[in-house]
Amino acid sequence: MAEKLLEVKDLRTSFFTHLGEVKAIRGVSFDVEKGEAIGIVGESGSGKSVTSLSIMKLLLYPGKIVGGEVWFKGENLANKSNKEMMNVRGNEIAMIFQDPMTSLNPVYTIGNQISEAIIKHQKLSKKDAHEKALEMLRLVNIPDPEKRINNFPHEFSGGMRQRAMIAIALSCEPDLLIADEPTTALDVTIQAQILKLMKDLNKKLDTSTMLITHDLGVVADVCSRVVVMYGGLIMEKGSSRDIYYSPMHPYTMGLLKSIPKIASDEKQRLIPITGTPPDLLNPPTGCPFYARCDFAMKVCNQEQPPYFKSENGKHEAMCWLLHPDAPKNEVYDSLKGGVRIGK
Ligand SMILES: Nc1ncnc2c1ncn2[C@@H]1O[C@H](COP(=O)(O)OP(=O)(O)OP(=O)(O)O)[C@@H](O)[C@H]1O
Ligand SMILES: [Mg+2]
Repeated sequence: MAEKLLEVKDLRTSFFTHLGEVKAIRGVSFDVEKGEAIGIVGESGSGKSVTSLSIMKLLLYPGKIVGGEVWFKGENLANKSNKEMMNVRGNEIAMIFQDPMTSLNPVYTIGNQISEAIIKHQKLSKKDAHEKALEMLRLVNIPDPEKRINNFPHEFSGGMRQRAMIAIALSCEPDLLIADEPTTALDVTIQAQILKLMKDLNKKLDTSTMLITHDLGVVADVCSRVVVMYGGLIMEKGSSRDIYYSPMHPYTMGLLKSIPKIASDEKQRLIPITGTPPDLLNPPTGCPFYARCDFAMKVCNQEQPPYFKSENGKHEAMCWLLHPDAPKNEVYDSLKGGVRIGK
């Protein structure tokens, strides 16, 4: 069995606001294997960023982990102090964000910023750190790196800045790279290039990758497994193949309808999921997707569904339609693509 690098168990995170407790993450469990790229997908507000910030313990006041465990290399990060986490961050887990301009310092050269990250985490001389910075720029395909290393962030294009951020994140050879919407601010062609780079680096360096995005289309090519989030819960998880070709949750089916098919010539009609996400100050007792679901039944509003697993146990979803006694729904069954639920 593949070795687990990260294991998140029943994670719960809330924000204690003046209006009350916003239950942003309500019991999330998943794992990341060594060397694997996993995608976390869901609409805005589903809890993707809060999940990653909880793992890194970078939640800002009034956010707080209220339950669960985050096992990373044999230690529960949820119990670690901020000081202990400083060692984990950057060194063992690195993170890149959507907008590299806010993470890069405008007054230092790109080279300085990569070297600084290297010196901070590894005991290297300035000269060796400079060499390593050059090597990193080459690794992320920055053209003419000897010259570009002396550029300031504003002299880089958006795509190059994101490459520089990836270089900084990977310069300390982390075990896990968390990328939160790393390509959202870029145009489509550059987006594809950055994703290809991330995929190549994941293969080459064997760094586990957690790619967070609201676009299910983006993770298809990069990630071997996908976690689909909604309303602070995991609706479905499985291999990318299973999620794309045989989704089990109506929410995933809805997300799939809203992705453009790049390879297709036919005129496309993208269908957004109608309705709005649940209020996490007063989360619903039943399925959070109930109000927006085309197939909702009475029970869905009353009781949160358990996870039902596919026969091989590798694909699961939280949906009452998967219960063996659920009434047959032909439309749902056709979208599900013949998945059978195991005992
Ligand atoms: N500081 C905060 N105070 C109160 N609620 C918060 C705070 N930060 C996040 N939340 C709530 O937590 C929930 C999850 O937010 P999160 O940022 O994880 O969503 P997301 O899936 O990353 O969305 P996006 O795609 O927009 O980045 C949201 O309902 C949000 O309103
Ligand atoms: Mg986010």
